[in-house]
Amino acid sequence: MLKIEKQVDLTSYTSLKIGAKAAYFAVISVESDLFEAYQWARAHKLSIFVLGGGSNMLISKPLKALVLKNELKGIRVVKETTASAWVESRSGEWWSTLVNFAVERNWGGIENLYYVPGTVGAAPVQNIGAYGVELKDSFVSLRAYDLQAGKEKIFTAAECKFAYRDSIFKGKYKGRYFILSVTLKLSKRPKLKLDYGDIQTKLNEQGIKKPNIRQLADIIRQIRDSKLPNPAQLANAGSFFKNPEISNNAFKKLQGKFPDIKFFPASKKGLVKVPAGWLIEQTGFKGKHYGKVGMYEKQALILVNYGGASSKQALAHIARVQKAVIKKFGIKIEPEVNII
Ligand code: EPU
Repeated sequence: MLKIEKQVDLTSYTSLKIGAKAAYFAVISVESDLFEAYQWARAHKLSIFVLGGGSNMLISKPLKALVLKNELKGIRVVKETTASAWVESRSGEWWSTLVNFAVERNWGGIENLYYVPGTVGAAPVQNIGAYGVELKDSFVSLRAYDLQAGKEKIFTAAECKFAYRDSIFKGKYKGRYFILSVTLKLSKRPKLKLDYGDIQTKLNEQGIKKPNIRQLADIIRQIRDSKLPNPAQLANAGSFFKNPEISNNAFKKLQGKFPDIKFFPASKKGLVKVPAGWLIEQTGFKGKHYGKVGMYEKQALILVNYGGASSKQALAHIARVQKAVIKKFGIKIEPEVNII
C-alpha cells in the first residue's frame, strides 16, 4: 500500500544536503505503487516529481508536487550468449550495485563507471560518463512509465537521444517519464578502456600491465577517492558544471593567450572540449570558501556544501563562478546538476 506523507523536507534525500519541502511524498517500492501514485496525483491535480539518489540535484524551492522516492530494486540476467550478457536492472538500484554485479561475473562495459553516485534510473537521464566510457556504450533499452498518459513505453538507445551528459529525458521529456528499468548489454570478452591518463598513471604505479576487470574497477575507485569528495563526508553533487565545447577557432585564440589551457576531443567535429575544472581553477576559486559553500580543493569542478548552506548561497556562488569564467575566458559554463 502506498503511503503518502505531507510536507516532507527533502534536504536529507540530496547528496548536496540542500533542500526544501515537498508538499507530498511517497516511497515507490514496487511498480504497482507507481500506478497508485499516478492515480492519486491525477485525482488531486498534482504533478509528480521523481527523486532517484538525489546525487545530481540542487533543490532551490518548495515542490508543490507529489515527490516519489524510487526504491525499485532487482537485477536479473535476461539473455546470455557466449560473447554477451543482457542485464536488466530496476531503476532504484544503486548504480554501483549494478557495476559490482557485472564486475563479479567478469562482464565488461561499465567498470569505468564504478562509483558514479546515484541510481540506475538516473544513469540514462544524464548519460553518465567517466574515464573514457559513457552509459550509452552499453545501453540497450529502458522501460518507463509515462506520467502524462499513464502507460508504459520502451525506449531504444536511438530514442533516448544520448549526448554528452544529456538525453531526451533532460530535454523534451523532462519530468514526463518515471524510468522503471534499464537493460544493458555487457561483454564476456571485454576490451578494457585504459586510455584515460589517470588510469595509465595508476597502472604504472602499481606495476600492472594487463589488468582484469576487478583490478580496473579498483583503480577507478582509487582515482575517484583521490579527487572526488565522498558525499557521505562532504556534501556535494559531483561535477557541478559541464565541460564546455567551443569552436576550434575560439580555442586557438584562447590558446594564444593561455598556452597551458587543457583540452580534449569534443563530441562533434570542429569543436574542442575544455575542462571547466581548469577554467574555474584559473579564476582562483579552487579550495576557497564563500560562507558555507565553495569549489572543492582537489577538483574545482565540484561545488561543496561545507555544512548548512542554503540554496540561495549555493546559487549566488554558481553565478559568481560563471561570471568570473566569462570575464576571464569569454566562456559560459553551464550547470550539469539539475537545478530545481
Ligand atoms: N583540472 C584542473 N583543475 C581542477 C580540475 C581539473 O586543472 O581543479 C584539469 C585536470 O588537470 C585535467 C582536466 O582538467 O587535465 C580534466 O580533469 P578530470 O580528469 O578530473 O576530469 P573532469 O573533466 O574535470 C570529467 C567528468 C567527471 C568524471 C571525470 C573522469 C564532467 C562534467 N565531469 O571531469 O564526472 O568523473 O571527467 O572521467 O564531464 C560527474 O559528472 O559528476 C563527474 C564527476
